[in-house]
Amino acid sequence: MPQTSTLSILISTEQIRARTAEMARQIEADLAGEPVLLLGVLNGAVHFLSDLSREINSDSLLDFLQTSSYHGGKSSSGVVQIRKDLDINIEGKNVIIVEDIVDTGITLSHLRELLSTRKPKSLKVAALLSKKGSRKVHPEVEYIGFEIPNEFVVGYGLDYEDRFRNLPYIAILHEE
Ligand code: IMP
Repeated sequence: MPQTSTLSILISTEQIRARTAEMARQIEADLAGEPVLLLGVLNGAVHFLSDLSREINSDSLLDFLQTSSYHGGKSSSGVVQIRKDLDINIEGKNVIIVEDIVDTGITLSHLRELLSTRKPKSLKVAALLSKKGSRKVHPEVEYIGFEIPNEFVVGYGLDYEDRFRNLPYIAILHEE
């Protein structure tokens, strides 16, 4: 029998918009007028990076990198690979890694370690979502949009087997 899936909205479009604006104000205040380089982690952070970057009223650059550890499924393989590296040299820059979600923390911990070897002036992380209860490692996350329960979520960039990224809200995916 084919598996059916249902969605229940966890965070609405309006809640995402309002929280993103608050995060942008906090980031601007911390930058104190200095420029920033926003690094989006593809593909999941694409909508969040797009909205966050347009809310931040500071001189900013954008670049992207892509990692892979989920291989399209619901749990991390624990091995992080860089599929696409940055184009911009981050040495001496204020860098913010922009993530969709921090779950086990493995991806972010790997990224923080890798990028800090490239000598940025500062290195911080802005994650729209965090599942605090499922961390296996504990990288610092300076800006968190929402702490969520340990459920598999989709929408606003987050996928399950490449589906649901286009939803304008965050929903819990239930499978029957
Ligand atoms: P971590 O390495 O376990 O912290 O996972 C980070 C990456 O796993 C995120 O950038 C997402 O791409 C993916 N991920 C973790 N939890 C979820 C989820 O609930 N839905 C969709 N993707 C997720």
